[in-house]
Amino acid sequence: MLFCAIIVILFLSVEGEKKNVLFIISDDLRPQLGAYKELNLGPSFTPNLDNLAGKSLLMKRAYVQCALCSPSRTSFLTGRRPDTTRVYDLKHYFRDVGGNFTTIPQFFKNHGYRSVGMGKIFHPGVTASNNEDPLSWNNFYHLEEDQDLSVSWRAVSKAERLKDPLIDELVVAQAKTSLHHLARERRPFFLAVGFRRPHLPFVFPEEYLADYPATQIQIPRNDYAPIDMPSIAWSKYPELRSYHDIGALNVTGNLNTTLPDQIVKDLRRAYFSSVTFVDAMVAEVLAELEKLNLMDDTIISFIGDHGFSLGEHGLWAKNTNFEDNVHTPMMIRVPGKTDRGVVTNNLVEFVDLFPTIVEAAGFPPLRQCPERSSQVYLCTEGKSMVPLMTDPDAQWKSAVFSQYERPGNIMGYSVKTDKYRYTEWVRVSEKASSNSDMADVVARELYDHENDYQENVNLVDHHDKASVVASLKQTLHGGWRPIHTDLIGK
Ligand SMILES: *[C@@H]1O[C@H](CO)[C@@H](O)[C@H](O)[C@H]1NC(C)=O
Ligand SMILES: *[C@@H]1O[C@H](CO)[C@@H](O)[C@H](O)[C@H]1NC(C)=O
Ligand SMILES: *[C@@H]1O[C@H](CO)[C@@H](O)[C@H](O)[C@H]1NC(C)=O
Repeated sequence: MLFCAIIVILFLSVEGEKKNVLFIISDDLRPQLGAYKELNLGPSFTPNLDNLAGKSLLMKRAYVQCALCSPSRTSFLTGRRPDTTRVYDLKHYFRDVGGNFTTIPQFFKNHGYRSVGMGKIFHPGVTASNNEDPLSWNNFYHLEEDQDLSVSWRAVSKAERLKDPLIDELVVAQAKTSLHHLARERRPFFLAVGFRRPHLPFVFPEEYLADYPATQIQIPRNDYAPIDMPSIAWSKYPELRSYHDIGALNVTGNLNTTLPDQIVKDLRRAYFSSVTFVDAMVAEVLAELEKLNLMDDTIISFIGDHGFSLGEHGLWAKNTNFEDNVHTPMMIRVPGKTDRGVVTNNLVEFVDLFPTIVEAAGFPPLRQCPERSSQVYLCTEGKSMVPLMTDPDAQWKSAVFSQYERPGNIMGYSVKTDKYRYTEWVRVSEKASSNSDMADVVARELYDHENDYQENVNLVDHHDKASVVASLKQTLHGGWRPIHTDLIGK
């Protein structure tokens, strides 16, 4: 009897050491935060996220593996890249086409945590990653809103919200309720909270417009396609054009066309206001965590799922390999490790999240996936960023990778280094074929991030860049493995 009691006490104390994880995603959020103000993306009023950033490892240069919801989320939630998950669009589910991979919530569920999700975590719908992904959760909460979502943006009055709350207000209410239940459990929790904004349509409480006076809103200076850009790099932003108000303008989305100035300004102001709305919603969840006295026991991860264009290059939304679409906010707060705030300018990738959270929570490191990993349930194609929490300037990844598929079996493979972005659009013989031989090149791009961070001039055919192009081609074709091998022991 005594023996059993000792075992139980030992068990509880070991359990007690495990940190909870609060995993927050904001949909279509580019680095439009005060914490990234050096990017000059326009006004940002995000006091609460900036405050969280000040207690976190803040990744100034984090890149998604694909600038589209389901491929990106599937990639970071499984810790594997699109050529392994084989999810490049909104129609396929990784367990059907890639493999029966362990996801971040599933990992914690399998290790004795209660895994709870709400809002948008996986891309919703059975044809995508299936939001319920039953293996990932002990409980999952679907939430639906009753708002008019047919126009591109709308500032909603308080009276209207009292009648029909916005989706992210429902998410916050559920998060608070869940936290109350989880706080009473003996076992640790993994709580995933997926906010819908600032995704289109930009529907937000009208009070946030006051943070962005109309006179302060400007049209991006680079509202033209990059000089010498191949047309395959372009997206006609069908998503934005599908809303009634934008559709009524009869815009084509063609290269070097723009929306009317006032529409551009209105959309930018509405996006900025939606970001501030998300900032306030995150604050409410964090306040609840504080109230329940769970701050010191909880790791907090906050990310977008990819970037977003707001008229830069004349582009809107996502679906490209441009910096505006793949550069995404990321911060991870680990109590006792990042309390005073750690900022890194090192290049990191969204596949690095899974191994980082696992290690920060006190589990042994995940092992790197072998070349063929469709049968391997648990492994990672990322690299734990925990060492950056103590040494943010450590020598780190020299290159990071993204990709985007275009119709006609064309894949745009893109690599970013400290100074450049280099992209090859190649014909892949068979859809979803992993690591094509990249021989059939349709178009190429080179942007000089040191002198042209906005990517306004494609230099790929400039003779003085020939050696740079040759070297980046090698890096792109070599892929991520040699980059990680360089990091062994670091
Ligand atoms: C997928 O893996 C889980 C364990 O993680 C297992 O329970 C399940 O049966 C597997 N499903 C298939 C279709 O293999
Ligand atoms: C788009 O406009 C830019 C700037 O005026 C010009 O340099 C470029 O050639 C144009 N691109 C196309 C495809 O017309
Ligand atoms: C758009 O096209 C429709 C149908 O051709 C036309 O009735 C309408 O006036 C056009 N709107 C604008 C803003 O040009």
